[in-house]
Amino acid sequence: MFEQKRIGMVWGVKAGMLSVVLDEEITSLKREVNGKEIILGQIGSYVLVPVGKLIIVAMVGEIEKMDIPINGKDVQRYVMRVILVGTVKAGRYERGVSVLPPVDAPVYYTEDADLSAVFSIFQKFGYSIGALSLFEKERAFLDPNRFFGKHIAVLGSSGSGKSCTVASMLQKVSDFPDTNIIMLDLHNEYKKAFEGSSNHLPVAELELPYWFMNFEEIREMFIDERDENAATQITVLKDLIVASKKGKNPDLAEFITVDTPVYYDISEIKAKIQFLDTEKISGLGSAPKEGPLYGKFSRFIVRLDSRLNDSRYAFMFKLRKYVSTDTIKEFLQKVYGAEGSAKVTIMDLSGVPFDIVNTIVSLLARMVFDFNFWNQNRREFPVLLVFEEAHNYLPAGGEGTKAARRTVERIAKEGRKYGVSCMIVSQRPAEVSETILSQCTNFIILRITNPIDQGYIKGLMPDNFAGVAEILPSLRQGEALVVGDAISMPLRVQVDFPNPEPESGDIRFFDKWKQSGVKTSVSEVVDRWWKQERT
Ligand SMILES: Nc1ncnc2c1ncn2[C@@H]1O[C@H](COP(=O)(O)OP(=O)(O)OP(=O)(O)O)[C@@H](O)[C@H]1O
Ligand SMILES: [Mg+2]
Repeated sequence: MFEQKRIGMVWGVKAGMLSVVLDEEITSLKREVNGKEIILGQIGSYVLVPVGKLIIVAMVGEIEKMDIPINGKDVQRYVMRVILVGTVKAGRYERGVSVLPPVDAPVYYTEDADLSAVFSIFQKFGYSIGALSLFEKERAFLDPNRFFGKHIAVLGSSGSGKSCTVASMLQKVSDFPDTNIIMLDLHNEYKKAFEGSSNHLPVAELELPYWFMNFEEIREMFIDERDENAATQITVLKDLIVASKKGKNPDLAEFITVDTPVYYDISEIKAKIQFLDTEKISGLGSAPKEGPLYGKFSRFIVRLDSRLNDSRYAFMFKLRKYVSTDTIKEFLQKVYGAEGSAKVTIMDLSGVPFDIVNTIVSLLARMVFDFNFWNQNRREFPVLLVFEEAHNYLPAGGEGTKAARRTVERIAKEGRKYGVSCMIVSQRPAEVSETILSQCTNFIILRITNPIDQGYIKGLMPDNFAGVAEILPSLRQGEALVVGDAISMPLRVQVDFPNPEPESGDIRFFDKWKQSGVKTSVSEVVDRWWKQERT
């Protein structure tokens, strides 16, 4: 360690953290090194503390100028709080610190070359997501098995670069022969980013049969839990669905439960319920009296009818193709490719009515999970599920989104065992179910300006890193703080720009206003609105 790199000494030691007082002669944080100007103490930069044969690597989390008592006199000095991140032992870097430095140990600043060994430990995998912000020549290499093998959160305010980051990170694996990624894309942003290499499925244009739903999803779609007869409706509906499923699939009858994804006829169920709702039974000698379920389904029938007859829901209820049990195989082949060869499948949910997006998300995610649950070959068939705009359908509470939340919480807790991992993308992390986010192991955190979300992120990160979260509001577009076990230590990364980029980019208002190229025909727009045409 060169003495000219010394900047100060350890002043206090706490588990996971040190306070460092900079030397007296450091009166400005600017320093010239080999003709290059560097700034000491930048949040997110690193310092080194040698302890015997080990070198401890720590990250600057906080710096301030303050009065400290030295030899009975208050003197003004720069004081930094640094977070211990790893140890270099005989030239090899390891995460974590087992030996704490003593008070008074000297502290040194770092240059790119000092940390090459650290940054390159995962280079052998050849998966890098971008360039390190504070070291121009270094790339951010990740251990991609750890990264994709556990759940990932991509968080950041609107416009911070989440969609671009997701596209860029996934483009790098989209050419592999057996990549298996399923994206739930709310705004049809990703088709453009994976042009040519993806399997684009516009869900509202294809059919997504109602009989793929499990009972929880059916219940969310048709039963109003506030209805005083909800409990009766649930029991009767369940029995009718099981009976209809068994009737249509006699050879599977002994295995069928209410959740088995086999064909049944919803109009048959509706007719039966209508009958029960108006049934009169003969009384004792006198005029017929109302049956036991008379009038108990009136509101249910209205709700059911409104869904079955609404053209926006036709893709689920007016089936032309998927009208027999066997067709579920065709559907799944479409999703995965015939032999699991689809690589990146984009489930385009842009045409799905907003009020049922959560149920559809639940259905699609659960089918992916269930498929691997029953897949003997699951260890050879790992799938990454990407949830874009997750705050919309995976909120912390609320009745209408129970099915999606329950499904994804289950995947978050058990998915790893079945080879299903999640990437949760959201601009409002504080609104996303905590059960889901707290199961994430790796975090890509882009700029976050909202103080509530910032506070929430601090809470999610390991204790010591709260200080580093202070940089979140000042990150640039596409710049992220990466924390987790897939990297050597927390990194500030300028994520590579995706090529091609998703259809999410900023609209150049000023330029468009100044010189509009394409004219908008109001009449055409209204026609499309009427016909529900988006593309
Ligand atoms: N790595 C990057 N480098 C430079 N600019 C970027 C980068 N990533 C994104 N940007 C810019 O930021 C803009 C917004 O990106 P993006 O659509 O990915 O944001 P977002 O966080 O997904 O927003 P929203 O929450 O509204 O969906 C893009 O137009 C792009 O130009
Ligand atoms: Mg986005």
